[in-house]
Amino acid sequence: MTHPGPPAPADPRVPAPPASVPPASVPPPASRCPAATPLYGPQLDGDRMPVLYEELRRAHGPVAPVTVAPGIDAWLVLGHRELLRLTREEQDFSHDPRRWSLLREGRVPADSPILPMVGWRPALLFADGQQHRRMRAAVSDALARINGHELRRSVRAAAEQLIASFARRREADLVPHYARKLPMQVITGLLGVDERTGQQLVQAIAGLAAANADSANASKRMGAILLALIEEKRRRPGNDVTSALCAHPAALTDEEVLHNLVVMFTAGNQTTVNWIATTLRILLCDPAFRSSLTGGHLSVDDALDLVLWRFPPTQNFPARYATRDVEFGGQPVRAGDMLILGLAAANQDPEILPADGSPVVGNRSHLAFGAGPHTCPAQDPARLITRTAVDTIRHRLPDMELAVDERDLAWIKSPWSKGLAALPVRFADPQLPPVHSASSQSGEPR
Ligand code: HEM
Repeated sequence: MTHPGPPAPADPRVPAPPASVPPASVPPPASRCPAATPLYGPQLDGDRMPVLYEELRRAHGPVAPVTVAPGIDAWLVLGHRELLRLTREEQDFSHDPRRWSLLREGRVPADSPILPMVGWRPALLFADGQQHRRMRAAVSDALARINGHELRRSVRAAAEQLIASFARRREADLVPHYARKLPMQVITGLLGVDERTGQQLVQAIAGLAAANADSANASKRMGAILLALIEEKRRRPGNDVTSALCAHPAALTDEEVLHNLVVMFTAGNQTTVNWIATTLRILLCDPAFRSSLTGGHLSVDDALDLVLWRFPPTQNFPARYATRDVEFGGQPVRAGDMLILGLAAANQDPEILPADGSPVVGNRSHLAFGAGPHTCPAQDPARLITRTAVDTIRHRLPDMELAVDERDLAWIKSPWSKGLAALPVRFADPQLPPVHSASSQSGEPR
């Protein structure tokens, strides 16, 4: 389905951008901190990010001044201990972007690429204290009702269909053809969205994430699709996360259900895409890991953990806002300043790494899922989706190997997401179940 559908009617439950945002034509203000390092722009090199974090740590210590978009100053929290404090002490560090001083002063241009990520919504990710706990209870309880066996079955079925669609070619780029397709398909299923609506939703979310001139329309389309879904689930509840959210004793309004669904989509999709692709990269490229797996010393779960430590799918996460002036990691943080969770840098903090640099097997004290009251509530289903995706393709394409030199694999140019741009593989002898090998003969794209 490629048609975006008719323009959605405005709905009062889908909020407009904050009134304090100036028009897009207003030039962005200059950074207030001359020492701030830009985390954006054409010079950003996805492969160099770990080096950049160590340079920042050496120059500034555990909290470093950065700019995350033109004129948008923030603090990047690189220290493991400091990141634990940032995530745990919400009386000092709020989730609510309405406290952000640059926004309150009207200094964030309406077309700033940071806005779609941090604009306030009535959802758990942007709330503190009681309000957060209320929405968090609904989301966590709804996620806890997911049946692991059914989820595994549906991931495996979707994975096998995708593999069948490219198996005859004996080669594939596993990022666009596998990792990028699977999580969205599975997450829409979990939320109780039918396939056709799911595809419309995927397009609307992609339009929103593109942060361009069509993003406002994409946001309206997404709002209209989700509202129709919520009305349907209130009328006829099913066995899905949306129905559980609607029926939860926390009594979320339609608007709250809608925006919490948006957070689940946006927080769950790209992260899981990255986790799948990076784990496959390790299994394909790391000879020690490959032989350990066949020899039974290390499991796929160990590979999943290694990714969370070394290449966390979200390398930096926006944001928290200081509620008061505070000295933090040796820096003079002011009330209203934005702080970014440096998840990848904190995982590599020399203060917590083993002295011999050995891989951290069996230890899950990494910060890939955040920490504190907002720690990712979907860790179990996300792991199950990723493990099943990785297991299924390993078993269906047992002789799969990398089709390019490992040095040609590049990370995407993003300060936020840690994902591979491509993962080309080839294989000679796919082991498909009979039903899929039959359908792949007729339905395979050329
Ligand atoms: C099915 C997939 C997933 C879903 C539905 C999901 C959902 C969510 C939600 C709703 C939140 C907000 C929690 C709150 O504010 O209380 C969240 C936060 C977060 N999630 Fe996930 N997530 C998924 C997968 C992942 C994966 C694979 C990763 C990375 C390994 C991840 C990393 C995070 C991080 C870093 C946060 C922010 C924590 C913070 O602000 O302190 N998530 N996720």
